[in-house]
Amino acid sequence: MLIDDYPAEIEAIFAKYPDKRSAVLPAMYLAQDSYGYMSEEAIKDVAALLDLEPTQVLSLAGFYTLFYEEPVGKYVLEICNDLPCALCGADDLVEAACNKLGIEEGGTTDDGMFTVKTVMCLAACDKAPMLQVNLRYEENLDEVKLDALIERLRKDDADGVAPYYGVEAFKESLKRK
Ligand code: FES
Repeated sequence: MLIDDYPAEIEAIFAKYPDKRSAVLPAMYLAQDSYGYMSEEAIKDVAALLDLEPTQVLSLAGFYTLFYEEPVGKYVLEICNDLPCALCGADDLVEAACNKLGIEEGGTTDDGMFTVKTVMCLAACDKAPMLQVNLRYEENLDEVKLDALIERLRKDDADGVAPYYGVEAFKESLKRK
C-alpha cells in the first residue's frame, strides 16, 4: 500500500493541498515508483487514498505520458519524435535504439532494462533530437551519443546507481518546506 511505502511523503504531499484530491498527480508519481507502473492495484490504491473513483485516476494515467499503463523497463528511453526533433533525425534515433536493444518501439528488453517509446514535444526543441530517460534529458543526440548513453546506463545499473532520478529528486523536494 502506498501509505505504508511512503508515509512521510504522503503526509508531506497532503500538507501542500487544501483538498487531498488535488494531490493526485504526486500520489500517482509515488504509486508508479512503488508498483513499477500504473497497474490496476496502483490505480485503486491512489483512488482509495484520495477518495477518488479509480476511473478518475485511470484517465490521468492515460493522459500523461510519464505514467505507464503497462510494465516498463528500468530505464525508459522516451524519444521525442515531434516535428522539430523529427526534422533533426528522431526517427533514425528510434530505429537505432530499437536495433541496438533488439526490440520494437514500445517494447522492453528481455532483461527488463530498457523500454523505448516515442513521445510528443518535450519542450527542448532547440536541442533536437533529444530524449528523456527517467526524467533526465539527453539532448543534441546522434547515434554515437545514443550508444554511449545506453552503455552508461548499463554501467550505472551495474554500479547500483538509482535509476529513478526524477522520483528521487521529487522525494527530496518533499523534505523542503
Ligand atoms: S519537438 Fe522534440 S523537444 Fe520539441
